[in-house]
Amino acid sequence: MSRVRVHNFSVSLDGFATGEGQSLDAPFGHAGGRLHDWFLRTRTFHDVQGKTGGGTGVDDAVARTWNEGVGAEIMGRNKFGPHRGPWEDHDWTGWWGPNPPFHTPVFVLTHHPRPSVEMEGGTTFHFVDATPQEALRQAREAAGDLDVRIGGGPGTVRDFLAADLVDHLHVAVVPILLGRGEPLWDGLEGLEKRFRIESVTTPGGVTHMTFTR
Ligand SMILES: NC(=O)c1ccc[n+]([C@@H]2O[C@H](COP(=O)([O-])OP(=O)(O)OC[C@H]3O[C@@H](n4cnc5c(N)ncnc54)[C@H](OP(=O)(O)O)[C@@H]3O)[C@@H](O)[C@H]2O)c1
Repeated sequence: MSRVRVHNFSVSLDGFATGEGQSLDAPFGHAGGRLHDWFLRTRTFHDVQGKTGGGTGVDDAVARTWNEGVGAEIMGRNKFGPHRGPWEDHDWTGWWGPNPPFHTPVFVLTHHPRPSVEMEGGTTFHFVDATPQEALRQAREAAGDLDVRIGGGPGTVRDFLAADLVDHLHVAVVPILLGRGEPLWDGLEGLEKRFRIESVTTPGGVTHMTFTR
């Protein structure tokens, strides 16, 4: 059966995967770009942006695997955008412009479903009000033989981990202290017992941890 994977998921030393106060001007709240500086410097990110350059060290080698063999993504509504509650209009189609980097079906979990949106380049956003298990069933059907990526944010990753639906989790522990925000690990005591864990720390001070079963 296809695997369920999380990649390039950045967490502060104190376990927060986004800051407080998410908004249109601050997608990661008070964390700003601090969680993802390491990723923005990689060639992988430059490639995604259609740009040349970027680092090719260990950070890049780890980051590069995020899209290999992935046939669908599931994300939470707060990753898709800064809006809360019922949609006021349907003009918002995500942070990523007309041609988002997913190039697959993307299932956006929300209690406020709306019509699917087909973007350029093969990305279609489907809005589903469903349990993690049901969302995964739909994503697997869309992905065929390929894997399903859980794209975040932390609330969604946490729910899929709590439901024991994740086969591969890559967390990038970044040496910053956010103090507040949305935690990744809450309610997941003993998670380590379900996985084989490997880690490597890069010269920039980021520790890449992979949890695999
Ligand atoms: N650190 C990283 O690598 C990383 C990666 C991706 C994103 N992020 C950041 O993470 C933040 C978003 O994370 P988050 O934890 O706040 O939220 P999230 O996981 O993106 O979304 C949570 C929301 O999705 C909806 N939802 C989740 N499960 C559902 C279900 N089973 N059924 C129906 N609706 C469901 C609910 O919204 P409604 O009730 O409003 O519909 C819920 O409030 C953003 O700041 C984003 O930039 C960080």
